[in-house]
Amino acid sequence: MADLSINLAGIRSPNPFWVASAPPSNTAYQCHRAFEAGWGGVVWKTIGDPIVNVSSRYSSHNVGGMRMVGFNNIELISDRSIEVNFKEIKECKERWPDRAVIASLMTDTRENWHDMMKRARDAGADGVELNFGCPHGMCERGMGSAVGQNPDVIETIVGWVMEAAEIPVIVKLTPNITDITQPARAAKRAGADAISMINTINSVTQVDLDRLVPEPYVDGKSAHGGYCGPAVKPIALNMVHSCAADPDVQLPISGIGGIGNWRDAAEFIALGSTSVQVCTAIMHYGFRIVEDMIDGLSNYLDDKGMDSVNELCGKAVKVVDRWETLNLNYKRIASIDYDKCIGCNLCYVACEDGAHQAIALTEAGERGLGPGRLPGKPIPEIKDEECVGCNLCSIVCPVDQCITMVDVDTGKPPMTWKEYQEKLASGEMKPIPAHP
Ligand SMILES: Cc1cc2nc3c(=O)[nH]c(=O)nc-3n(C[C@H](O)[C@H](O)[C@H](O)COP(=O)(O)O)c2cc1C
Ligand code: SF4
Ligand code: SF4
Repeated sequence: MADLSINLAGIRSPNPFWVASAPPSNTAYQCHRAFEAGWGGVVWKTIGDPIVNVSSRYSSHNVGGMRMVGFNNIELISDRSIEVNFKEIKECKERWPDRAVIASLMTDTRENWHDMMKRARDAGADGVELNFGCPHGMCERGMGSAVGQNPDVIETIVGWVMEAAEIPVIVKLTPNITDITQPARAAKRAGADAISMINTINSVTQVDLDRLVPEPYVDGKSAHGGYCGPAVKPIALNMVHSCAADPDVQLPISGIGGIGNWRDAAEFIALGSTSVQVCTAIMHYGFRIVEDMIDGLSNYLDDKGMDSVNELCGKAVKVVDRWETLNLNYKRIASIDYDKCIGCNLCYVACEDGAHQAIALTEAGERGLGPGRLPGKPIPEIKDEECVGCNLCSIVCPVDQCITMVDVDTGKPPMTWKEYQEKLASGEMKPIPAHP
């Protein structure tokens, strides 16, 4: 069985699955439950001067029958005292010495950062995570994303923290910024040990059309909240990859955002994360989801012949590159498996109205369609010459593996856009004719 243990900048845990700083990591009781279920680490709910929350704090973006595809909150950091939080961290660490307990911190002045660092170390925390990401409430007080959106301020504050750091420091970044590598580079310049991302994305999920007030509803008003859950995963993956690929960052990464199963986790690890953190999926389904995550990741690594999860870390970083490096002479086209097709014609409509009119509807004749081969329904047929390989039909097809994309041998050598420009300039090639 593959070794799942990790070491992120000196923070060790028996597996890469950490509970993110959020309601599930609010108390020692919850952390014990998380560790009993199998989580490798917990990032404590952010500790700072205790705040006062509003009542009604969450809202959801539901799609069709699926709840919490995206999740929004206007909650602030911990509403418990700093003393109680550190006392419980100490208890947790003593009871679970092999797991990672990380204190998430948020404060303001240099003296206060030094004080919080000392208290985290005295409590026995394995490391700290600096919350520079909270996009509501705290940023209005000059903390959270107000710091994370300004690389100069990040550099200054991380510098203060590092003056007093005796345990590893992870800087948690906000996605509410154009280029995530800028704050990541600032953290690196200031000497941070690692970065984590993403915190939540500014959002309004829904407007109640009777009251004309968005959710979460607070006495006739609402506020912009932080968005997370499955819907943010692609944004988080992009940001994790951007930092992993940037030669000026090169820090260990804890990946966060929309992770709900072992596959999500493996994708984050392949794009450069050492550990992964989970919040919304735990709020939806509970701590128990980690059992399947451990089994799934372990089986996947065994199937791939990898002895350790560290072998997977960063494996897909290099193959994500700038568009100009892609091969213009590569071609793939759609191919339909008629044994699986149910004749819904979604592919035909999508290609006809939304793509390249490369699917014809022809009479089924005797061939028939799908399971049971129903005769009489029109059959979608790919017009190979017209298909540009955009993938749309395979994405809309409701039957798994019914439309697959297959490679076509063009007989041409690989050519990037850059090489194409050079060949045009030297007269070696004429322009590729525009699509009719
Ligand atoms: C209700 C709620 C409260 C949160 N509180 C914190 C917090 O105190 N500190 C922090 O760093 N992140 C906080 N987060 C952000 C999460 O740690 C995480 O970065 C984000 O939810 C993305 O992960 P997910 O898609 O698995 O939920 C909170 C998220 C939610 C939903
Ligand atoms: S891959 Fe795109 S162009 Fe080709 S058949 Fe499907 S939708 Fe049409
Ligand atoms: S979308 Fe899939 S199942 Fe529906 S007609 Fe096209 S190939 Fe068949």
